[in-house]
Amino acid sequence: MTDLAHDPLGGLPDKRQVAASFSRAAESYDSVAALQRTVGQRLLAQLPASISPLRWLDLGCGTGYFSRTLGECFPASQGVALDIAEGMLQHARPLGGAQQFVAGDAERLPFRDESCDLMFSSLALQWCANFPAVLSEAMRVLRPGGVLAFSSLCVGTLRELRDSWQAVDGFVHVNRFRQLEDYQRLCGGSELALLSLQTMPETLYYPDVRSLTHELKALGAHNLNPGRPGGLTGRARMLALLNAYEQFRQPQGLPATYQVVYGMLRKEIV
Ligand SMILES: C[S@@+](CC[C@H](N)C(=O)[O-])C[C@H]1O[C@@H](n2cnc3c(N)ncnc32)[C@H](O)[C@@H]1O
Repeated sequence: MTDLAHDPLGGLPDKRQVAASFSRAAESYDSVAALQRTVGQRLLAQLPASISPLRWLDLGCGTGYFSRTLGECFPASQGVALDIAEGMLQHARPLGGAQQFVAGDAERLPFRDESCDLMFSSLALQWCANFPAVLSEAMRVLRPGGVLAFSSLCVGTLRELRDSWQAVDGFVHVNRFRQLEDYQRLCGGSELALLSLQTMPETLYYPDVRSLTHELKALGAHNLNPGRPGGLTGRARMLALLNAYEQFRQPQGLPATYQVVYGMLRKEIV
């Protein structure tokens, strides 16, 4: 079961667990965030050329890499970086880029109505079970003419790992993702005008499964699902997993696919 549309509250881990996991990963995150850099750069490249925000918000800023990039792109603007993980903010704050670093939840923003011109969010919103709440918060917080630019992940992400575990024990070992169609339906049905929504797969290659799972842990993005099996991963099951994943091996190594969604929405001027 991967379709969060039918399981909006039960399909994602508890927010406190998400925050704790990313806080723990704050020191290791940047060393393994190559895909996150690529995706954020692609998102930046899609911003409307004319955009010139008075105030921007980096939603789910993590270690603040893109807060610093936004600060460089818009040196005359006020920047706010927000994250649910205090550990990430502690890491990001001394590195600057934004004027404010704020702890908060993308589903309930601690900002005034019509106080922001650009909301930028790269690879954070897949952690939000209530995506309609994120969209209505964007509608509330953006000034007329303001833009929400996001990248996220949809079903198909880490499908090789999911399928390999499925062959071993049938448990949910991989975080759940929304269908692309859900992003289309929810963005299309929101009060914001949908400028574009597209998906672009990215594939990373690893010499072995352990390199992939260690990287997911270092990112804070390992499996936190409510349905994950407890206890240790037994040696026999781990060997079965390694075997099952081998069927996907390619000359470059073991592939891990990410189905990345890019969305651009605008609050219309009425
Ligand atoms: C994969 S990291 C991406 C960080 C950064 N945007 C980047 O591209 O490097 C996801 C971030 O989203 C944050 N996050 C998850 N759920 C959130 C929520 N509901 N509200 C705000 N931030 C959230 C996590 O704490 C984490 O720092």
